[in-house]
Amino acid sequence: MGSPLLLRIASFETKQVRFTCDGRPIAARQGESLLAALLSAGDHLRRHEGNGEPRAGFCLMGACQDCWVWIGPDRRARACTTPVADGLQVSTIPPAPAGFA
Ligand code: FES
Repeated sequence: MGSPLLLRIASFETKQVRFTCDGRPIAARQGESLLAALLSAGDHLRRHEGNGEPRAGFCLMGACQDCWVWIGPDRRARACTTPVADGLQVSTIPPAPAGFA
């Protein structure tokens, strides 16, 4: 990950939330979306599954589906419409299909 793509300018008085993304610890603020938190911690959200190019979401409102991430072993979520929560284990890499692990 490179330099953060986003810079927080809102109040820092909300509760701090900690989660991991691809095993990396991330600190965020309660009320932020996963996308905002992850782009505040790095220069992209995920890599395109086809060409490996960095992706950072597009619409930021749940329509384009450019921000899919996985939470835990099998929950797929849009990072732009999913709020952060303590202890989330986020992955930007799809889980292997059953029987292929
Ligand atoms: S950025 Fe478009 S659905 Fe999340």
